[in-house]
Formats: sequence, structure tokens, C-alpha cells
Amino acid sequence: MDYQNIIVTREENVAVVTFNRPKVLNALNHETMVELSAAMDELGADPNVHCIILTGAGEKAFVAGADINELRAIPDAATGAGFAAWGQAILFKMENLQKPVIAAINGYALGGGCELAMACDIRLAADTARLGQPEINLGIIPGYGGTQRLPRLVGKGRAKLLILSGDMIPAQEALRIGLVDMVVPAAELMDKARELARKIASKGPLAVAYAKNCVNVGAETDLVTACAYEASQFGLSCGTADRTEGTTAFLEKRPAQFKGK
Ligand code: CAA
Repeated sequence: MDYQNIIVTREENVAVVTFNRPKVLNALNHETMVELSAAMDELGADPNVHCIILTGAGEKAFVAGADINELRAIPDAATGAGFAAWGQAILFKMENLQKPVIAAINGYALGGGCELAMACDIRLAADTARLGQPEINLGIIPGYGGTQRLPRLVGKGRAKLLILSGDMIPAQEALRIGLVDMVVPAAELMDKARELARKIASKGPLAVAYAKNCVNVGAETDLVTACAYEASQFGLSCGTADRTEGTTAFLEKRPAQFKGK
């Protein structure tokens, strides 16, 4: 696909997807979401891509939310529900991709931007970033999963505090409450994200996918069912050539050469 609103680059086994509408702080309009969806299909199917980084163009914003021009034009409740369900489906696709997605939050991550980051596997934030769910200020509520993923990450009380007040919080506060996983100086954000992505990309991609699946599935089910699921995914990992290579390499005291088989 010929992307107009995002930039997709590949560096060895790592792909970087950059939201590229800096004049509107990388707000997510319809076309951008279509392109994000297509990029997930493309990168998900590319065996050379083992890990994906999402970030925003410019120094100011990761993504400042859904495009408010489009929100203003929604004619009725049914269209609004469809708008949200469609966006949610794209974030589910990304969340369930069989490769990790790292959010490198380089600035504002608001509304749909915060929701996008929360659907990623790991969140790194620049110390200058600010996060929040300000939809309430627009007379609407989060629609790309924010009312659900936020309490799962930070607890019900803190989620309600953010969603009902519409307040933004700085990166350090987001780290304290568990909304992001690491805060780094802004100038080092992409280096840190690449370093982490390369580390993950060097592991066996099948094992990485099985581990991601287990955490995702387990977070939404009871412990007994989740452990049964883990056992099945562990079993799949034991059936791979990468298991033979990883365990043999350890015993031979050499680095493993994983093949994703
Ligand atoms: N949609 C459309 N345009 C946006 C935008 C958005 N989400 N966020 C910013 N912009 C535009 C502004 O309108 C402005 O455009 P002009 O230059 O043409 O005036 C440009 O980006 C720069 O923004 P500001 O001048 O406002 O920059 P600032 O530094 O003064 O403020 C900000 C930055 C605090 C992030 C402010 O832009 C802001 O509050 N943005 C809106 C954030 C928001 O409410 N996001 C939630 C959207 S709803 C949603 O996402 C629903 C959902 O769950 C899916």
C-alpha cells in the first residue's frame, strides 16, 4: 500500500511505523486508521519483521487522538457506535498480532492516541510526553477501548480519575500508575525503543508470539483456564526447531540462532 499518513520503515528485523500528520499532532483520521490496519497486515505477514515500533512524527505528539473534525461530523448514535467498533477492531488486530508492538510515546498521547498506546504490548515514553483521555471535554467518551484497557492497566479508580476529569498526566506520573512501562529522556527515546525491539527481535519469534498470546489471553480469563492455555502454548514452543536450537546452544555455551521454525 502507498501510505500517505504513516511512514513504514524496516531496519533489519524491526519495523517502525510513524504517524505522520504533525500539523494536527498526528490525529487519527479515517485514512490514517485504514493505513494502520493495512500496515499491521503487511508487517504481520512479513517473516523478516520480528518487532514493530509505533511513534509520532515531530517532537510534540505521539498521537493527539481521533481527528476531532471527523468526530464533529458524526451524524447520529448508530454511526458513532460503528465508528468506535471499527477503530476498536483495528486496535484488536494490532494487539493480537503475532509479533510485539512497542509504543515509543514521543509527546502527547491523548484520547485515541492513549488508546493506541494501550493496545501496544510495551509502552516507552519520553520524559516530555503527556497522556490522558480528554474525550469528556468534548462531550463524548473514549471509543477505542480506553474505558476498558485503562482500568486494566491502572485500576478502576485511577482510570475513572483520568476519564472523568479529562486531565492529562506527565510521563513520570504515567509510569507511577502503570500506564507506561519506562520513561527515558526525550532525546534517547527512539534509541531505547530500537534497542528493546532489537533485543526482542533476536529471540525466537514463535516463542515471542506464544508468550504474547499467553499474557493477552490470561489477562482476560480465570487462572485455571489461563494456565491450561499456557500449557498448550508451551507445548507448541516445545514442538519448534527453535526449542532444539535454544536449549542446545545453552548447553554448548554459544549464542542461539533462532529461525522461527
Ligand atoms: N483532531 C484534530 N485536530 C487536532 C487534534 C485532534 N485530535 N489535536 C490537535 N489538533 C490540531 C489543532 O486543531 C491545531 O490545528 P490548527 O493549527 O489548524 O489550529 C493543531 O493540531 C495544533 O494543535 P494546538 O494548536 O491545539 O496545539 P497546542 O500545543 O496548543 O495544544 C493539545 C496541544 C493540548 C494536544 C491540543 O491540541 C488538544 O487538546 N488536542 C485535542 C486532544 C483531544 O481532545 N484528543 C481526544 C480526541 S477524541 C478521541 O480520541 C476519541 C476516541 O477515543 C477515539
